[in-house]
Amino acid sequence: MTPTQHGKLVCVGTGMRMAGQLTPLARSYIETADVVVAAVPNRFARKWLQDIAKQYICLLDYYADCDIEGKDRLDTYQRMSATILDEVRAGKTVCAAFYGHPGIFACISHMAIEAARAEGFSAEMLPGISAEDCLVADLGVDPGRTGMQSMEATQFMIFERRIDPTALLILWQPYIAGDLSRKRFDTTAARLQVLVDKLARDYPLDHPVILYEAATNPLEEPRMETILLRDLPSAVLNGITTLVIPAAYPLKLDEAIIAQLQALPEAPLLEAV
Ligand SMILES: C[S@@+](CC[C@H](N)C(=O)[O-])C[C@H]1O[C@@H](n2cnc3c(N)ncnc32)[C@H](O)[C@@H]1O
Repeated sequence: MTPTQHGKLVCVGTGMRMAGQLTPLARSYIETADVVVAAVPNRFARKWLQDIAKQYICLLDYYADCDIEGKDRLDTYQRMSATILDEVRAGKTVCAAFYGHPGIFACISHMAIEAARAEGFSAEMLPGISAEDCLVADLGVDPGRTGMQSMEATQFMIFERRIDPTALLILWQPYIAGDLSRKRFDTTAARLQVLVDKLARDYPLDHPVILYEAATNPLEEPRMETILLRDLPSAVLNGITTLVIPAAYPLKLDEAIIAQLQALPEAPLLEAV
């Protein structure tokens, strides 16, 4: 859709580790936008953004909403998106910055872009380096080898999902696993036991799983702690922990499909034009 309004939104990611994981294009928008609106929890990254932005609006205080009776996380995210939109409506070039990739497990940017476009503004998202990118590099796992399933831990718990234990499984936000209220920022051993019980439908209880935390500054090492699936309820889960579950079984050939493919006539060669 051709933009009809003055005012523009660009959502960028800062990467997981500020030094070196920000793309030159994202940096240039941060420096040149009229205003940077950001939800970046790392205080060093925040300070850096504040120093190079022309104007800076921090969205982190909005999380206090979650303490208000009757509000859930979705209300907070909508309020953050509305703040971004107000700046766009004022005719500004707005750079909304999020850590990691701005569109991966980051619904605010998707909401804001959809709303901005619906009102006739130009709105786009630039990719950033996500936690998943870092874990591929740190753990040395290639999603192409077995295939990869990636979903939010509570979503995995409360919906009927068909998990393939011959592929890698990544569960995001295990630190709030099983929170149905969408208000809390923690979980309990009992809820994690429910998660383990559900995973045990497809994986042995002594299957090794990895608690992964990408380094968020150049002096840190990533956390890559292997535990047994059965021990998850007593594990230390932080806000930045991602649960990585390697394949439990080797890939198995689908003989029927292979026979079907072998029975097909050879495809005719395309004639040279
Ligand atoms: C709201 S999501 C944000 C994801 C982020 N937009 C990205 O691109 O990676 C928060 C979840 O991302 C994962 N995460 C955030 N920081 C991480 C880190 N340093 N290492 C590993 N996973 C992380 C955790 O699963 C966490 O619960």
